[in-house]
Amino acid sequence: MGGQFSCKYLPPGGSIELQNHKFNFTKIAKKCVSPFNKDVELIELVIDDEIIFYGSSLLIESLITNLLSNAVKYSSNSEKHVLMMAEAKDGILNITIRDHGAGISGEDIPYIFEPFYRSDSARTRNTGFGLGLSICKKIVDIHNGEISVSSTEGAGTEIKIYFKLN
Ligand SMILES: Nc1ncnc2c1ncn2[C@@H]1O[C@H](COP(=O)(O)OP(=O)(O)O)[C@@H](O)[C@H]1O
Ligand SMILES: [Mg+2]
Repeated sequence: MGGQFSCKYLPPGGSIELQNHKFNFTKIAKKCVSPFNKDVELIELVIDDEIIFYGSSLLIESLITNLLSNAVKYSSNSEKHVLMMAEAKDGILNITIRDHGAGISGEDIPYIFEPFYRSDSARTRNTGFGLGLSICKKIVDIHNGEISVSSTEGAGTEIKIYFKLN
């Protein structure tokens, strides 16, 4: 990976220069969680001590923050406990973000990574533009990772991300 990160929804001009470097993913994850836990503990973080990752820490930070904010936003009417787990093993980083919120219907799941797509229930109950997950997908792609979702309406959502560590 390297070069430019292009996304027409990002100012200015829709692209930013990628600043790839080695960084401590554990530190970034803790930094992303802390604003959500300011008043009450919303997110439980289970993570290895020091996961060294190569890529853009700026983009990885925005990936994690986006997913955590969805998990919190879409559990506002139900159990608010969100769990984030990150484990590095055999050169692979596995990240899981799980909530017990509204969930996503089977009809909506194929479209949620598309720009501006929002489920009917999200549109009527929560604010947003439907861009977060499309940007998350781009960030994962540019780091040669994979992102998947499994969800049950009314029971919760689990996002899984897989990256090769090099
Ligand atoms: N954790 C979640 N729980 C339930 N629905 C979700 C969750 N994350 C995403 N979604 C669904 O996917 C859609 C797209 O998500 P996103 O691109 O982040 O847009 P936004 O948060 O602005 O609505 C949301 O509108 C919602 O319907
Ligand atoms: Mg969102």
